[in-house]
Amino acid sequence: MWPDNRVLDLLGVELPIIQAPMAGAVLSDMVVAVSEAGGLGSLPCALLSFEQARGELEVIRRKTSRPINVNFFCHQQPPNDPASEMRWRRRLDSYYIELGLDNNTADRSSNLTPFDDKMCDLVAEFHPEVVSFHFGLPEKNLLARVRSAGAKIISSATTIDEARWLEDQECDAIIAQGYEAGGHSGMFLKRDVSTQIGTMALVPQIVDAVRVPVIAAGGIADARGIVAAFALGASAVQIGTAYLLCPEAKITAVHRQVLRKSKDNGTVVTNVFTGRPARVIVNRLIHEVGPMSDDAPEFPLAAGALLPLRLKAETAGSRDFTPLWSGQAARLSQELPAARLTKLLAEETLEKLRFLGAQTEHWITASKISLGAVCRDHPLSESRPTCTLTSTPD
Ligand SMILES: Cc1cc2nc3c(=O)[nH]c(=O)nc-3n(C[C@H](O)[C@H](O)[C@H](O)COP(=O)(O)O)c2cc1C
Repeated sequence: MWPDNRVLDLLGVELPIIQAPMAGAVLSDMVVAVSEAGGLGSLPCALLSFEQARGELEVIRRKTSRPINVNFFCHQQPPNDPASEMRWRRRLDSYYIELGLDNNTADRSSNLTPFDDKMCDLVAEFHPEVVSFHFGLPEKNLLARVRSAGAKIISSATTIDEARWLEDQECDAIIAQGYEAGGHSGMFLKRDVSTQIGTMALVPQIVDAVRVPVIAAGGIADARGIVAAFALGASAVQIGTAYLLCPEAKITAVHRQVLRKSKDNGTVVTNVFTGRPARVIVNRLIHEVGPMSDDAPEFPLAAGALLPLRLKAETAGSRDFTPLWSGQAARLSQELPAARLTKLLAEETLEKLRFLGAQTEHWITASKISLGAVCRDHPLSESRPTCTLTSTPD
């Protein structure tokens, strides 16, 4: 029924749709809704304490027996760098004064935590069918524990080098995350955003470079995007931004409002919110400090210093300091419950695939072209057919 079953078979899901883990926006209710609808619901843990993550997993396991994905960031905590932290503080001084906050006493700790032994205990306890990582992979002994808990392991690549690196570490599938994607870029081997690759160019190049199945992510928000991802060689899609308007998404009212009115060119990649490149809707902080600032300290330290500003501004209904995470295709989002959205995306994709198939048949018949499928030796797959079209003379 689907053009490619590799991810379906690997992850044990019915639909080739993975709801992207979105830290701060997704909790158990969305995960349950998507998994029950036949997709893969993903619980992001980067912003959850051990106890919160445990609580969410208990709810999920009580409400669904379908496969789920549990997601973690796996960055290295940067060493203390007082000079860089002071530079960032001074850069934000005027905003602290404007909002009547004390920049010297504010709590600047970031709650973005990397995968560690304790979180690994949760994986061993709840046995999620899939564990996904962002920013590469955790250290080898943690990865081995995840594997021995029975989870399939996936992670994001933004270049061919990253995809090959993940495959060498025995990732079961690779998320090819294009530059259009909302939230943090998963880039981990290089940090140059100016050379980042769009989904359309990235997916087929990664498909050709690795043997494991590839999941396309970035700018996919409706059936047209999913069909295109299949055409590029992906075996499934991971969709983030399009789920942000679901009632289950835990985003602020301000964020929701802005997403509803989002524009095609309203987003930018910035490092000012956390220290790592991430795509958001442009707001005042980005205009005045970003989008890429040398003053922003290493991930995740930049986030800590902004939190007091953000919280104070949000209480007054301002979005000046809020990271309004969004991909480039936000305008294509449909405001539906997560289960309904998942099923609708799947139904519309199948309908579009059938339509395209019928159109192609019709075109071939009408234009008297004969389709000869020849299997050419392919460096990666002996069974990958290459179709040649040959015009038949009248
Ligand atoms: C609000 C938001 C939060 C995100 N948080 C995470 C996260 O916690 N872990 C992760 O692996 N990816 C995260 N991402 C990236 C997604 O996994 C995915 O790559 C991206 O959403 C795909 O692009 P799209 O938003 O255009 O669909 C986040 C994306 C958004 C929009």
